[in-house]
Amino acid sequence: MAKKKAVRKTTTDTEATPASPQDSARQQAPAEERYAEEFTFLRVIDTAPRPAGWLLSPERVVDFLCGTNGESIRAPSSSKLPAGLPKSMKLEPKFVGPRSLVERCVVTLAGERGLLLVGQPGTAKSMLGELLSAAISGTSALTIQGTAGASEDHFKYGWNYAMLLDKGPRPEALVPSPVFTGMRQGALVRIEEITRCLPEVQDSLISILSERRLMIPELSGEEGSLFAAPGFNLIATANLRDRGVSEMSAALKRRFNFETVLPIADPEQEVQLVGTRARAVLHDSGLTGDVDQRLLEILVTTFRDLRDGQTAEGWSVERPAAVMSTAEAVTVAAAITRQGAFFSAQKDPVSLVPGYLLGVVFKDNVDDLDRLLAYWDGPVRRRGERDPLWKRMYDLRDVLEDAELEM
Ligand SMILES: Nc1ncnc2c1ncn2[C@@H]1O[C@H](COP(=O)(O)OP(=O)(O)O)[C@@H](O)[C@H]1O
Ligand SMILES: [Mg+2]
Repeated sequence: MAKKKAVRKTTTDTEATPASPQDSARQQAPAEERYAEEFTFLRVIDTAPRPAGWLLSPERVVDFLCGTNGESIRAPSSSKLPAGLPKSMKLEPKFVGPRSLVERCVVTLAGERGLLLVGQPGTAKSMLGELLSAAISGTSALTIQGTAGASEDHFKYGWNYAMLLDKGPRPEALVPSPVFTGMRQGALVRIEEITRCLPEVQDSLISILSERRLMIPELSGEEGSLFAAPGFNLIATANLRDRGVSEMSAALKRRFNFETVLPIADPEQEVQLVGTRARAVLHDSGLTGDVDQRLLEILVTTFRDLRDGQTAEGWSVERPAAVMSTAEAVTVAAAITRQGAFFSAQKDPVSLVPGYLLGVVFKDNVDDLDRLLAYWDGPVRRRGERDPLWKRMYDLRDVLEDAELEM
């Protein structure tokens, strides 16, 4: 995890990241700034061929996302590293998941189709999009958030009406969309939750993806069409929980390669990731203190049981309708640790689990509370017979009962 201060310092002297217009503190810096040091290092030492318009070779993009497995990358003695940068670097994995998936994503982005990441909420689809665009194009800012209210203008361009009325249609009066800017600059553009847009609005991307050209009928001659520069492509995400991809037109589907992002398969990797991310969240908000290891284990186990509908012991569990994602587990681990830091009397993090779990599981579906109680009376009770910590969890059952009484 890059230290915030160090990153802020190095961004000012890298060319790839534009200087930020904001000097005061920010809650969250974009990936191109958070990892500025790694990007500068990789761009200097990367001698492999790069697709046109890319800042890194495909192999280095995958190294950045999946890490270098504890091994250091050494800068060749001939490379001209900016002052202050180390001569070798170990890259930490940012995405936990199959390397082959990331390789396919990178290959797609260098080709003639867009990339569509599909999966449950909280499986790091948006994170993948952000990191890929920062690594490949140096910016993750060209992003459109898909909503039911999005119109074709959001995907193409709009007009500065004062100038349009005053001077007529001309390039200066055009207000570019992120897609427009990405085509002009040769950069990756992210479309988050594309399936939330109306299908006919989504379809405005068909010609952009197939012809790599955007027509501007209001302008004449050469100004009337924009040809995408090398490096331009689209990364879209879609949640299977929303309307899903079923309403996407067949014509648009054909212009994307689909990649499904699954929840983290290995429990130990998930525990580790939730710990790392929760610590990072707390560090960013200025809190010190560590996240309790047993808390992480209990939390991740509970989330996985409820997500999978089955425990590691093979006991079946009724799955709640709520999404039990890794991202939610990170939020809960950070919240519980934060509560411990704010309230000095709070010494036992595990005692807070049922309360926060209720916040995740019990959103709008009344039956979910019953499912949670059934989980308590099954796996939690049975584990409690052997493990004092799970016994402690079981004894907190009244927190859930109280919630039921309040309904
Ligand atoms: N496989 C994973 N690798 C790394 N981080 C993950 C993974 N799965 C979930 N996360 C965590 O969940 C967070 C939220 O994921 P996000 O990209 O918003 O999910 P999505 O867009 O799929 O809903 C990430 O920022 C990361 O902290
Ligand atoms: Mg997302």
